[in-house]
Amino acid sequence: MNAAPQIALLLLVALGSSQGLQHRYVDRVEDLDPDQDQDAEAQPLQAGPSPFGSLWPLPQKVQISAVAFKLNGDSFQMSDGKGSSAGPGCSLLQDAYRRYYEYMFGGAESQRTGPGGRTGPAVLTGLQVWITSPDSDCDGHPGVTSDESYELMVDQPYAVLKAPKVWGALHGLETFSQLLYEDEYGVKSINSTTISDFPRFAHRGVMLDSARHFLPIKVILANLETMAMNKFNVFHWHITDDQSFPYLSRTFPELSQQGAYHPYTHVYTPTDVKMVIEFGRLRGIRVIPEFDTPGHTQSWGKGQTDLLTPCYSGADPSGSFGPVNPILNTTYDFMSRFFKEISSVFPDAYVHLGGDEVDFRCWKSNPDIQKFMDQQGFGKDYSKLESFYIQKLLNIVATTQKGYIIWQEVFDNGVKLKPDTLIHVWKGSAPQYQSELATVTRSGFRALLSTPWYLNRISYGQDWQGRYRADPQDFKGTDEQKKLVIGGEACLWGEYVDATNLTPRLWPRASAVAERLWSAANVRDINDAYNRLSAHRCRMVERGIPAQPLFSSYCPHEYKGL
Ligand SMILES: *[C@@H]1O[C@H](CO)[C@@H](O)[C@H](O)[C@H]1NC(C)=O
Repeated sequence: MNAAPQIALLLLVALGSSQGLQHRYVDRVEDLDPDQDQDAEAQPLQAGPSPFGSLWPLPQKVQISAVAFKLNGDSFQMSDGKGSSAGPGCSLLQDAYRRYYEYMFGGAESQRTGPGGRTGPAVLTGLQVWITSPDSDCDGHPGVTSDESYELMVDQPYAVLKAPKVWGALHGLETFSQLLYEDEYGVKSINSTTISDFPRFAHRGVMLDSARHFLPIKVILANLETMAMNKFNVFHWHITDDQSFPYLSRTFPELSQQGAYHPYTHVYTPTDVKMVIEFGRLRGIRVIPEFDTPGHTQSWGKGQTDLLTPCYSGADPSGSFGPVNPILNTTYDFMSRFFKEISSVFPDAYVHLGGDEVDFRCWKSNPDIQKFMDQQGFGKDYSKLESFYIQKLLNIVATTQKGYIIWQEVFDNGVKLKPDTLIHVWKGSAPQYQSELATVTRSGFRALLSTPWYLNRISYGQDWQGRYRADPQDFKGTDEQKKLVIGGEACLWGEYVDATNLTPRLWPRASAVAERLWSAANVRDINDAYNRLSAHRCRMVERGIPAQPLFSSYCPHEYKGL
């Protein structure tokens, strides 16, 4: 046994409690699931061939035969099938063909053919892509109800990929690229294969935190690229927090001018944000921003006076500020204008409104707030004040957005919510989060799960296994209730993460979540998963992504560094 994890844990607890407003982090440490610790120490697995090659996440139905074809990078063609509703004008697909051609044939030594005189296997000449629905969605944005299904038939003389919408075609291209392998002579090969595929859950997200540390656009884009390799379809952008406000608002430029770590180098301009949204769209990924209030807003207060509550020490203001001030009309005027901008900048129907971890101490200290509490008849129940704020905010946002996501506390505190609100479950450990899922869905709300997938929590060993075993529908409830869980998100909070360590910390650990959210519920064989994930991780490495290893091993094409 290695003593290092325990020491690291103690250190983290000490750090967490010495930094005040970091409940989210302290909770995570206190709630460490003993099962996950065990998983972290799980026996190393044996590498061996999987009957499914290196497909990740595993498609719903796969049949791979032993008939192999070879591919010639010089002549291999990806093109639109005749009668496809997405013609050559669909730049989303053209862009995807280029990207996947590069992944499949881009390597320097890739054009080798077999030794002369060998009667090689038959050649697969190309891949035809058919979008079968009259509206391909080529120029649209993906949404929570988008059809992501596809069918792939690899046979001579060319492979056929059929999908109702471009979103399924994108996933099918990724799967096709995963079927490629090099034979013993280094010749690109693919077996005759039939695949029919669709996701188990509609919402498969990765949350990155660009407030605890600023994340350069390049890092965000690289992770969107990697998300597409894992069939994730939601980028939850936790863009602001106590520590910084890097979002450059056209309506309120002072927010980032004063609240960012640096007003010019550490901000996301409107152009940057557009780029992230379009880069995601081209990969079938929705971009959902989170503007977390009323807590986690210290940075907002720097550029917007009177937005935060002045805290008191005794009879006088202490000079420090607490959560958003819920008793002023100016607060709601600000929120109206701010979220109006957000709804025009981000095309997704959903916005994440946070609402987690509101610290009541400052509200309690403020005499004006106390007076307001009395007037409203809230007594000493500050969660009623929180509800008051959130309800007003939800009414504002409901006029500009079709839907919103909130962290579970808002639901737990009994705030009145629109029926289509998505409740994001993150607290506790098993079995608390399972009973939370049961309670949320019993009330008829839809839910997202993140508790077992806080990937900022790290430990020695193969902790992906515990993440892999967790299942969003593993709770006591009716079938109707289970259907209300529409997916989950892998979260990487940023207290200890920036551009230097983000990618290897996230991948391939997030890949475990990706398969849980995409593949059939009965895909649970940890040995088979290990074999496929090891190969998938090497594929990410070959594509230039510094994904960390699962265990002692090697890749045919090792990471070459920067
Ligand atoms: C692909 O075909 C080759 C050659 O027949 C065979 O050895 C291999 O097992 C097949 N791969 C899979 C995943 O079935």
